[in-house]
Amino acid sequence: MTAPASLCEPCVILVFGATGDLARRKIFPALLALHRRGFLHARTPVVAVSRRPTSVADLLAGLQPEDGGGDAQALHAFAASVRCIVFDHTEATLPAFVAAVDDVARERGAGAARAVYFALPADAFEPTAALLVKGGLFQGDGWRRLCFEKPFGHDLASARELNAKITRHFDESSIYRIDHYLGKELVRNLMVMRFANPLFGQIWNREFIDHVQVTIAETLGVEGRAGYYEKAGAVRDMLQNHLMQVLALAAMEPPKALDADSVRDAMVEVVRQLVPPSDGDFVLGQFAPGEAGGRPVPGYRAEPGVHPASDTETFVAVRACIDNPRWQGVPFYLRTGKRMGRRLAEANIVLRAQPGTLFRADRAVEGEPGPNVISIRIQPYEGISVEFTVKAPGEGLRLETAVMEHCHHCVYGLDTVEAYEILLHEFLAGDQTLFTRWDFVEASWRWVDAITAARDGQAAAFPNYAAGTSGPAQVEGLLGGGRDWIVSRDILS
Ligand code: BG6
Repeated sequence: MTAPASLCEPCVILVFGATGDLARRKIFPALLALHRRGFLHARTPVVAVSRRPTSVADLLAGLQPEDGGGDAQALHAFAASVRCIVFDHTEATLPAFVAAVDDVARERGAGAARAVYFALPADAFEPTAALLVKGGLFQGDGWRRLCFEKPFGHDLASARELNAKITRHFDESSIYRIDHYLGKELVRNLMVMRFANPLFGQIWNREFIDHVQVTIAETLGVEGRAGYYEKAGAVRDMLQNHLMQVLALAAMEPPKALDADSVRDAMVEVVRQLVPPSDGDFVLGQFAPGEAGGRPVPGYRAEPGVHPASDTETFVAVRACIDNPRWQGVPFYLRTGKRMGRRLAEANIVLRAQPGTLFRADRAVEGEPGPNVISIRIQPYEGISVEFTVKAPGEGLRLETAVMEHCHHCVYGLDTVEAYEILLHEFLAGDQTLFTRWDFVEASWRWVDAITAARDGQAAAFPNYAAGTSGPAQVEGLLGGGRDWIVSRDILS
């Protein structure tokens, strides 16, 4: 990992899909933030590429600073480095497009390095990359890097096909597959927490851990993305990528070193050791009408652009088992859903009960020792907490649960550095640690495909949970062994 963040070498940054939602909401704000913090080289231009004409003012309109002063200056200086170029992705206009990019590079003194961000649908990745090669965009002796949004492929077969086509033109060292969960502070903290602290590191195994739960719950619905989501569903949109990354960081063996290959070797190894899920290992759901934020909301099938009889899942919970000496017999429960009662992402590590019966509730003891739970709260309130049992004050022996808390956002502020800002910096700095290597994509699709192959039986019962709840009732049965789903204490409520 590049540490500390530093000024990136000059290059031309090309953002394809510049007028799209992702570019406006995430990429331009992240580039502006990098510029403001002095990490974008003064000779680095940003080329906003779109099919329809646009302007710098329009692209950056949402970024107008409210407080003026330094922020206004930074925005002004950043805007001066942005150029809009229209490109219709045809061979006829290709030479003019490449010439226009070269002109921008010459004008700014950016040199021959090119960083291309594909904020495009996955089926446009390869045709666009191939066109750029053909047009000579990457001629010269500068480095070339390509950043692809998730999901990379639709299943194992299509991902393989896509990868084979892309690697005809570029090798793995130029390919950056982005998963923004890897840029989230508390996800990145997992490695430090586990491998820099004997307090946690020593107990991170089957001897002490009973099971692990990872939850990413959203209150939002599909938000106008039905065209994409109808084909993806929760399994492809969230499980195959974000949940798998958190699982890998929580479960991997210590990497040999902190370089990109060592970390990614350790991550992929544990995904390869996942036991293929069978029918009883997962629960799928689709939301029915219900409530969100105190207001009635329609069911998934009534969202704009969704087929009225759609069988796309908006919820998935799965029991993942890892076949290795560290985790034999320790289930990892992963769940995610749209239109849930609360927005939160967290990993809860539940420790085994203390052996013996000393504190079993009887006449001498009131209450019972609760499980020790280590919670890594990814969002919205970032932090790490540990639940343990204490004696309540007063006569007798009354047991209660106490919480030790590292409130990350109290110390550092909420969302200190946005995930896309971290990842774009690493992309421009040429560090692949936080990007998904091909073998991880392949291993995760292989595991996830077993769920999509067996999904039809469950889809017949859709919709099966009301918006604003915690998912289908069958989810309770997934845990077994007297376990309960855990939601860490909401520290701000
Ligand atoms: C994206 C998914 O990758 O992650 C969206 O495509 C989802 O459907 C989003 O809403 C969740 O990200 P975050 O950062 O809000 O948890």
